[in-house]
Amino acid sequence: MNSYFNLSDFITSFSFASKAVNDSLAGHNLRVAYLSYLIGEAITFDNRFLYDLLLSGLLHDIGLFYDKQGYMFVEEHFPSLRSETRKLVQIHAEIGYEILRGYPYLSKIAKVVRYHHSPYFQALKEKVLLESQIVYFADRIDVYLKDALCSPSELLKKRESLPEFIEAAAEKALNPKVAEIFLKKVYPKDSFWFTYSDQEYLQREISFLMENFSQKIPIEYSRDLSQIFAYLIDFKSPFTASHSSTVAVVAKEIAREMGYSEEGVEKMEIAGLLHDIGKVKVPDEILNKPGKLTREEFFIMKSHVFYTYQILKEMRVDEEVLSWASLHHEKLNGRGYPFGLTKERIPLGSRIMTVADIYTALTEERPYKKALKPREAVNLLRELVSKGEVDGFVLSALEKCLDRIERERSLVVEEAKETYSKFLGKV
Ligand SMILES: [Fe+2]
Ligand SMILES: [Fe+2]
Ligand SMILES: [Fe+2]
Repeated sequence: MNSYFNLSDFITSFSFASKAVNDSLAGHNLRVAYLSYLIGEAITFDNRFLYDLLLSGLLHDIGLFYDKQGYMFVEEHFPSLRSETRKLVQIHAEIGYEILRGYPYLSKIAKVVRYHHSPYFQALKEKVLLESQIVYFADRIDVYLKDALCSPSELLKKRESLPEFIEAAAEKALNPKVAEIFLKKVYPKDSFWFTYSDQEYLQREISFLMENFSQKIPIEYSRDLSQIFAYLIDFKSPFTASHSSTVAVVAKEIAREMGYSEEGVEKMEIAGLLHDIGKVKVPDEILNKPGKLTREEFFIMKSHVFYTYQILKEMRVDEEVLSWASLHHEKLNGRGYPFGLTKERIPLGSRIMTVADIYTALTEERPYKKALKPREAVNLLRELVSKGEVDGFVLSALEKCLDRIERERSLVVEEAKETYSKFLGKV
C-alpha cells in the first residue's frame, strides 16, 4: 500500500503552525500536550495511552478555530463555573469533537477532546476518560501559568503558589489523583519548568516525542485527513466554505483529462485540499476583509503559500504533493510568488493547481464580488494565458471537461455546506 502521510508529522507540523492562532493562547496546545504526556508517563508506559495524550493535547482546542469567544469564558469563570457558563465553555469542545470524530485514526482523540472541560465531579458521574481528565488538568495549569512564562521571577512566584491553586480546585474540579501525581513527579523537577517556559525547546521536545510514535497512514485516509484540515481553513468564512474542496475537484479532473495515472489523480486531490493550509498563519481579519487589502495586508496575505510550503515540507508529504500544492501562485513569466519561479521550474502539476485555484476563486462569490459563470471565468483565464502567466494547455484541458467539473463540484459544495452547518451550528 502506498502511504503518503505520517500522522505524527502531520499533526505536529500543523500544531506548530497554529500555535499562535490566538495571541493569548500562543503555545498553549504544545504545553498542554507536553504536560499531559509527563503526567501520563508517571502513570504508565503504555505507548498508545501516551501517544493519545500527546495528540489530544495538541488538538484539544481545535474547536476554538470557530469559537473565538470560547476561551475567554474558560479563563474568566474557572473554577467557579456555573452551568450557563459551562455550556458556553463546552461549545469549542463539542466543535472539536465534531471535527475529529469521523476520522478513524482520531476517533478516540475526538472523545478525549469532547470532555476536556468536564470538571472532576462531572467526569466521575459521566465516566469521562482518564485522558480527558489529564488534559483538563494540564489545561487548567497552563491557563494559570501562561502569563508568567516570559519572566523568571513571575514564574517562580506562580510555581510557589501553584500547589495552593491546585488544592483549592482539586476537590471538585480537578482529579485529585492526577493532581497528586503532578505534584509528586512533575512539579518538583526544574527540567520540567525550563522546558515548559521555553517555547523553542518545548517545540523540539514535542517533535522528538512525536517521532517515537510515527504512524503511517494509507492513501485513502490521507485524503480524508486532508479534508479535515481543508475544512478547518475554509470554514473561517462562509464564503470560502467549499474553496479547497472545489480546487481539489477541479485540479483532479484536469489531471485526469491530461492523462495522469490514478495515483497521480489521487495525489492531485490531496494537494488541492492542502493548497491553502498556510492560511492558518494569516489573521482572520485579513482573510475575511470585505474590501481591498492594503499593501501591508496583501504582503501578509501572500505569505500563505510560503507557509503552505513550509508546513507541508515539515509534514514530509510526497514531493509532488508538496510542489503541486505550494506553487499555485507562481506565474510562468516569473512574476508570481513566493519564489518568483519561471516556467522551467514550475511543474505541470503546479500549473494545474494554479488554473484550478483561479477558476475556483473566480466562480465563487465573495463579500466584495459576484461569482462569475464558468464560461466567463474561462475567458478571463484566457487573458492570463495571453499575458504569459498561466499555462494554455492546462486551460484547454479544463475547458474540455468543464461539464464534468461542474457536476462533481456541486456534490462537494453540498457536502461542505452540510459539514459547515454541523460544525458551526453549535456556535
Ligand atoms: Fe479548551
Ligand atoms: Fe485549552
Ligand atoms: Fe486557494
